[in-house]
Amino acid sequence: MFRPDRVVEGRVRPHHVDCVLFSEREIACRVSELAAAIAADNPRRPVALVGILRGSFVFLADLVRALHPYDLGIRVDFMILESYGAETESSGEVRLLRDFDLDVRDADVLLVDDILDTGRTLAFAKRHVEARGPRRVRTCVLLDKPARRAVPFRADYVAFECPDEFVVGYGLDYNRLYRDLPWIACVTFTEAASQ
Ligand code: IMP
Ligand code: MG
Repeated sequence: MFRPDRVVEGRVRPHHVDCVLFSEREIACRVSELAAAIAADNPRRPVALVGILRGSFVFLADLVRALHPYDLGIRVDFMILESYGAETESSGEVRLLRDFDLDVRDADVLLVDDILDTGRTLAFAKRHVEARGPRRVRTCVLLDKPARRAVPFRADYVAFECPDEFVVGYGLDYNRLYRDLPWIACVTFTEAASQ
């Protein structure tokens, strides 16, 4: 797939999205394995899943369906956090754009995000959920980029360790594009920033 220097909501650099890092089949397999691990750690306990939007929506949709056979009394809600602007670097500041309203007092919460990068988003989200009185908060991410960590953070469940590259697909975007790709692909920037 190639999109020339198309400008969407600000600057978009010329780039290719053509190398598949994790295929649909690999992702489906890891999602099933994660569901089994999550179910084994939460026997007969209701679990509240809180997805961090927007990147987690595809992963969370597949994860809840993989969890269905384990009959965990799943409840789902979302919060919108933002730390990235239009480009590929974190602004360093996490903002809460929409809070979740599920009552999580005494509940086992599983925070779900697309990727653990600097760690700032999940560290912020975990503190935020903990302040609402859950019994326990665990974290689950599709991708972990340990090379980029700026604050110490370990996720409890990780589908794949990711190389230090900007990736898109399966919910992850570059400038709001590519969330619809059914697999994870690397973005290769082909020239210096345009405009
Ligand atoms: P952190 O706060 O730096 O850990 O960033 C987490 C958020 O940054 C993720 O939820 C993503 O939305 C975004 N992000 C980090 N790395 C990538 C990437 O390679 N592709 C797309 N989004 C990314
Ligand atoms: Mg995100």
